[in-house]
Order: sequence, then C-alpha cells, then structure tokens
Amino acid sequence: MSAALALFPLALARIVCTFCPRSFPIAIPGTAFSRGMKARAGLMQRINASLDLLEQQQNRDGQMPHGENDATERVGGAAADGSAAGGGCKEGGAELAQHTQRTALGLLLACRDEQGRRLTREQLGDMVLTLLFAGHDTSATALSCIFHELHRHPEAAARLREEQAQVLAKHGPQLTEEALADMPYTEGAIRDVLRLRAIVPGFPRVALTDFELAGHTIPKGAHLQCSLAQPLRTDARWAGEADPLQFRPERWLDGAAHRTGAWIPFGGGPRLCLGWLLAMAEMKVLLAAVFRGHKMTVLHPDSPWALFPLARPKDGMPARLQAVQQAASG
Ligand code: HEM
Repeated sequence: MSAALALFPLALARIVCTFCPRSFPIAIPGTAFSRGMKARAGLMQRINASLDLLEQQQNRDGQMPHGENDATERVGGAAADGSAAGGGCKEGGAELAQHTQRTALGLLLACRDEQGRRLTREQLGDMVLTLLFAGHDTSATALSCIFHELHRHPEAAARLREEQAQVLAKHGPQLTEEALADMPYTEGAIRDVLRLRAIVPGFPRVALTDFELAGHTIPKGAHLQCSLAQPLRTDARWAGEADPLQFRPERWLDGAAHRTGAWIPFGGGPRLCLGWLLAMAEMKVLLAAVFRGHKMTVLHPDSPWALFPLARPKDGMPARLQAVQQAASG
C-alpha cells in the first residue's frame, strides 16, 4: 500500500503530462500541439520548395545529376579508390567541390550513406528543421540574453567596448580567426551569460540500462530530463568562485573558471553541440559589430520573458543604438 502511495505522485505527473492540453500528441484544433504541427507543415513546404530549386539548379549545372544510380556510382567509384571509404556524409561527386555556393542545403543534398543512397525528403526536412531550431533560435536567444545582461551592467559593456577598440587597432576591421581569438573579455561575457541563463535548460534522455544515480536506482527505459541550469549556476564546483550567481566576465580571464569543468551550456560527451564553435564565433562577430563605436540601450529591460521552448523577451526587446565618440567612453 505504502509503495503504491509512493508511486502516486509519479503516476499523477505522468497522467497530467500526457493529458496536458499543451502536450497531447494528437492535433486537436486549438492546442499548442496542433499549432506546432501546422507550423511544421508550413516550414516543410518552404524547405521542399528550396530543395526543388537547388536540385533543379544542380541538375542544370550538371553538378549533381539526379537519381540513385548516379549517386551510387559516384560514391561507389570514390570508395573503390579508397578516397571516400567508410560511408557517412559523403559528397556526391568531385564536381560538387566546384560548386561556388557550398550551402548547408547543398551539402545535405550531396550526403550519401554507405550504400550510396541519398537522404529522403523526410530526412532532409528533419535535418533542416533541426538546424533551424538548434542553430538559429539558440544563438538568437543567447544574444538577447547577452545584450540584456550588458545593458544591466554598463561597466561590463564599457570594458567590452574598450576591448573591441583594442582588437580593431591591433587586427584591423576584418574579423579574422586571429581577431576572434583575441577577445578574452568578450568571450568571458558570452561564457558568463551562457552560464547564468542556461539557454538550453535541459535535454531528454532514455536510460539504456539500469543504473544508480545519487542513491536512486534508475530503471532501464526510464525517461529522464537532465538539467543544465543547475550545474551551470549552483554546482558545488563553482563554490570557490566569487559570487557564482553574479554576471562577472572577469571570472573567465585567469583560467580558474575554465578549470571547474562545470561550464556545459553546449552539453557534453558524444552529443556535444555540433555547432558550438560556430555559435561562439557568431556571437563574437555580432558583439564586435555592435560594440565597435556604439552603445546599446535596451528600451524596456524589465519586460517579461517567455520561458518555453527557449527563453525570449516577450516584447522582442527593442533597443536603441547610439554612435559613441570614443569606443572606451562607456
Ligand atoms: C548559443 C548557442 C547554442 C547553444 C546554447 C546550444 C546548445 C546545445 C545543447 C545543450 C545541445 C545538446 C543537446 C543534447 O545533449 O541532447 C546541442 C546539440 C546540438 N546543437 Fe547546439 N547550441 C547552440 C548553437 C548551435 C548552432 C549554431 C548549431 C548549428 C549550426 C547547433 C547545432 C546543434 C546540433 C545539430 C545538435 C545535436 C547534436 C547531436 O545530437 O549529436 N547548435 N546544442
């Protein structure tokens, strides 16, 4: 009886979760799920139209003739001379390398598996949607959080502007790899915002075997929600850090914060974010563009934020950008 009672909250949570009108997995009109499915269908239509165009263009240019046989021949031929052995995401022919516009869509269209088969339209659509969601919304949310935090900490914004003036003087206006690597304060600001605001607050996992976690037995097949927010903010490994709940880009300058090993906004292990280096570069480029000779003021810093599926300012965060005389003037 007591065991049954102990399970009650869990069972209730599962029932509530399953029948919650926001998550009920049948497209009943008016529900969030139905709206989501409608939006997905709209996006898929656009993605398909882009894929049609790209395929037509590639066929016209003779860069990637259509049809499974061609694809098989190309990848098979490449594998025969050892240059493309092992399958995976292989490009569909040497001609593709001459393609002047190596777009993400173009590369996905050129992917072949070990048998030389191209991705189906459904698989292509799923990949593009993943890239859109994982690659666009995350960086956009992160940047909103960074601008918001810098607005709240004008001294940090001034120091960032100062650093950008130095990088500009040293490397010139081009944001080269060297220039991007030479922005420790800008990087510290990004890192500390990602630490405090947990852009992706967690991710789901299914236990593949029974295992023990902090004295609890997790059974095989259990659905788990792993939090990133907790280790990023309050993990014991931040205990030696001054003010772990405060925004302090300086904490990243002497290497100590790096050593905690608790900075995991991009996940970790085999499923580490595929785009994390790109995301870091994107954010630095945008911060450089804004903070080189400009001052940004968020007009309604106290406006509410929506938290699902990713945090975002409900009012779109209107801001004013003003040119400033001297980059270090604050
Ligand atoms: C600030 C920006 C970003 C954050 C905070 C972020 C965070 C994450 C996290 C936490 C995961 C792991 C999810 C899991 O373990 O289930 C992940 C996975 C992934 N991310 Fe990112 N991401 C960002 C930007 C990007 C960008 C720019 C791209 C691509 C252009 C990207 C592509 C992906 C992909 C494809 C995966 C799945 C990897 C896999 O399952 O093997 N992300 N991201």
